Amino acid sequence: MTTDLSRYDPVWRAAEPYMRARKNDVHVPLSFHWAQRLLGLYPGADRDICSLAILLHDIGWATIDMDRILREGFRGPNILQSDVRYLHETEGVRLGSEVLRQTGWSADVIAQVCEIIDGHDTRPEPRHLNDRIVRDADKLWRFGVPGIAVACDWFAMTPRAYADRLAGEFHWFELPESRTLAEAELESTRAALMLHVL
Ligand SMILES: [Fe+2]
Ligand SMILES: [Fe+2]
Repeated sequence: MTTDLSRYDPVWRAAEPYMRARKNDVHVPLSFHWAQRLLGLYPGADRDICSLAILLHDIGWATIDMDRILREGFRGPNILQSDVRYLHETEGVRLGSEVLRQTGWSADVIAQVCEIIDGHDTRPEPRHLNDRIVRDADKLWRFGVPGIAVACDWFAMTPRAYADRLAGEFHWFELPESRTLAEAELESTRAALMLHVL
């Protein structure tokens, strides 16, 4: 079954001004496609809620200075509980609800999407299948070539060192299929980037 993803185009357009921050314009489309792949494996999940949540989950970064994001959100101590992490979630809820209202989504959809955005990085345990799919899609892109190319700079690491770090992070994944996908992706990324040599 093919899914018509063009129904989300108005949301992409409305969110476009927030896509320049922190390479959202690479991360978010890639994670959106990972979410579609997981949705194909989990028909019990809600396609609109997951698709809209992954599309909007990081737009809150757009209101935070990039140097501060890297200093506190990626390179400091306790990065997952840093103030900027919480701030990008609350700003994501604020901007995300505006975008969804503008594009005609119902109050119920807005509430469900915002529940996922709020806490996607900082909530210790995911709440339900939709939340799990969004969390896994958020992380899966890192294992591909673009993810390693972009994120190694955030962490001030070489591609190989960052790939080695990712090899210890498969515990991130909520769903067993996500872990299998991440393992295969990392293996092909290592080959593509010649990480056995470089
Ligand atoms: Fe995030
Ligand atoms: Fe993200």
